[in-house]
Amino acid sequence: MPVDLTNERPLAWDSAALDADTKAMLDNLQPNILRAHVREHLSVLFVRFNDVAEGRAFLRRLATTKMKSARQHLQEIRDFGAGRGPGTPYVGVGISKAGYRDLGHSVEDVRTFDDPVFRDGMKRRTAEVNDPPVEEWERTYQREIHAVILIGDAEGGPVDRLREEILGDLPESARLLGEERGQGMRNPAGDGIEHFGYVDGRSQPLFVKDEVDKEPKKHWDPAFPLSNVLVPDPFAPNPKRHHGSYLVFRKLEQNVRAFKEIERDLADSLGLKGADRERAGAMLVGRFKDGTPLTLKSRPAGGPVANDFTFDADDGSKCPFSGHVRKTNPRSFGREVVMARRGQTYGERADDPWDDSPPEERPSGEVGLLFMAFNASLLGQFEFMQQTWANNPDFEMPATGHDPVIGQGDRDIKVRFPKVWGKPEMSVPQPQVPQTVTMKGGEYFFAPSLAYLRNL
Ligand code: HEM
Repeated sequence: MPVDLTNERPLAWDSAALDADTKAMLDNLQPNILRAHVREHLSVLFVRFNDVAEGRAFLRRLATTKMKSARQHLQEIRDFGAGRGPGTPYVGVGISKAGYRDLGHSVEDVRTFDDPVFRDGMKRRTAEVNDPPVEEWERTYQREIHAVILIGDAEGGPVDRLREEILGDLPESARLLGEERGQGMRNPAGDGIEHFGYVDGRSQPLFVKDEVDKEPKKHWDPAFPLSNVLVPDPFAPNPKRHHGSYLVFRKLEQNVRAFKEIERDLADSLGLKGADRERAGAMLVGRFKDGTPLTLKSRPAGGPVANDFTFDADDGSKCPFSGHVRKTNPRSFGREVVMARRGQTYGERADDPWDDSPPEERPSGEVGLLFMAFNASLLGQFEFMQQTWANNPDFEMPATGHDPVIGQGDRDIKVRFPKVWGKPEMSVPQPQVPQTVTMKGGEYFFAPSLAYLRNL
């Protein structure tokens, strides 16, 4: 029996009752897909192979000597929790459609990937998601990328060492096209944040029982079937038990200074005073900086970051329909669109991203998010979310506007904001806030099973 990806019950990965196929799936799946791997320090290497035999041999060596399985990762987390020391670094691999061809798979072969978006590659999808033209992307991404190698750890040292070893093993025929360095940022409460200063990475689809058990779930069920994130790996020895996941990578630059000016100007235009001024930014993101969901509270609540909520009792007078987290997860429908976000922030800052310094002290470029997410369908998840939800000013309700954080395309219609939290009185129509996140390039990859890589 193939692994049942549609099973709604979260995976009890260490249960003695687990069937042989599911065990084999876990032994052959890359980490960081079912459960986030620590990647406080991250190196992202973009590679081009140019020689079938050498490219294959390199990936085979990488998989057999440096990559662990999803099961090993889950065991390491268990051991760490029990005080048995930290785990090993993460090494992940994604291959683009051009990469599969360069590794010797025929055009016909590559067509066996179900996902048309993957088969196109990101450069041919700019119109669908309103991305900037490829000529405006950074040079690395304008080139034909064959593979991405992710190296992550809680500490910088192991990442640097592994990076050296992996690059040292790259065959002469291959090229390193570029590299990104990610570096986690935390607020004083210890929560991971992005460059605008907001807690990020809190809301995730959870697949593993250990994680689901820790969450309150009165309103929102964080447990998702494996079918949100896994597909059979078409080139693995046994696709019934060897799985992979589509990986979207996008470098998203954030103009923090502009975003902070927008927060200030919006608070001014709505006449928000004192502590209530924080609500301006929260209406754009859907959460306050400390992660408090705007649909639940009119002020930041502090304490653990809530995720057990829906928007069912909110007609837009608390959290606007356009708020980033409401756009990207309306919660009352669209569960099949939810994807496993695994990004990391990039870029050095001289200022403290979470404090109240004025906009002039904020960076206007060179910092942002290395957006990454695992999908079972790029067409039905990442692209659907970006195109049909974030870029669509009429999603859910007419004329509510683009996603103010990630929406792309002309923001020509005017929008209204609630003047008082939870009250029907709306502002006069005003122009949508300008775009402050710019896509600098990216690619679609498939993160294959270890069984595929070991057998190359
Ligand atoms: C959640 C920021 C890009 C999809 C969040 C949160 C923040 C945030 C602060 C709230 C934390 C949480 O609920 O986990 C950003 C920034 C981005 C960015 C600054 C770009 C620089 C994207 C993109 C997508 C996306 C490109 C997908 C197309 C989501 C989703 C959630 C989320 C699905 C969780 C919503 C939920 O389940 O409640 N983001 N994000 N984000 N973001 Fe983004």
